[in-house]
Amino acid sequence: MNDDRDVTAQLNARGDVAVVVPAAGAGLRLGPGAPKALRLLEGEPLLVHAVRRLAAAPSVRMIVVAAPRADVDAVHALLAPVAPVTVVAGGAERQQSVAAALAVVPEEVPIVLVHDAARCLTPPSVTERVAAAVRAGADAVIPVLPVVDTIKEVDADGAVLGTVDRSVLRAVQTPQGFRAAVLRAAHEAAADSHTDDAGAVEKLGIPVRCVPGSDLALKITRPLDLALATHLLALPDPEPPTV
Ligand code: CTP
Ligand code: MG
Repeated sequence: MNDDRDVTAQLNARGDVAVVVPAAGAGLRLGPGAPKALRLLEGEPLLVHAVRRLAAAPSVRMIVVAAPRADVDAVHALLAPVAPVTVVAGGAERQQSVAAALAVVPEEVPIVLVHDAARCLTPPSVTERVAAAVRAGADAVIPVLPVVDTIKEVDADGAVLGTVDRSVLRAVQTPQGFRAAVLRAAHEAAADSHTDDAGAVEKLGIPVRCVPGSDLALKITRPLDLALATHLLALPDPEPPTV
């Protein structure tokens, strides 16, 4: 069975970026309901919000969505009015969903970004910032924010072992950007599971660069995040915080 839909779908012929969008997760932490990417935020699925913002970034030539296997056709129909996209069936783990989408990105596209559908309010400016840093020569680029909470190291019994120096910590968002060959090599080499693609690149000993992320790029994970996102939708893109 061929799960790909519109493998040739192209947005902007002058763009040099393919964005891979893992969107095949169940959304268990949101509670019972549809797969997370298909849950509604102000009447539209999270995935529609995400793809609309990616398509607004001028660097983006193509978008490949990894959808839940049962929803490939529905997702293709849903996104067709939003932007030209390719839709493939995702896997059981995020990593497998990314690999399935990466497999249909043509070799000649020099830059690949990986962006969680769950970070559906990420402004196009963040996508452009990540793409520009890869274009400028970085092999791997991640958008980050300073950590606001004090972070403690604890043992299994909940006893505090120490306080981590917050000034050297960053919270990591998506889209993460890569020279295409670097991301492919990292995925081929990744034996164990990783929660972010830059982690697989780090394991190859390849340097990863940070650029400023955005508060709007929060990952919708729990019900409170959906409530927050509803309010954030009304806001303009704020200035990126300093890293
Ligand atoms: N994802 C995916 N394939 C999977 C698991 C996750 O494409 N097998 C995607 C999700 O759709 C999401 C992103 O990876 O856009 C980040 O994952 P997460 O926020 O953990 O989403 P879910 O796995 O859907 O949520 P939960 O862990 O609460 O079930
Ligand atoms: Mg998950």
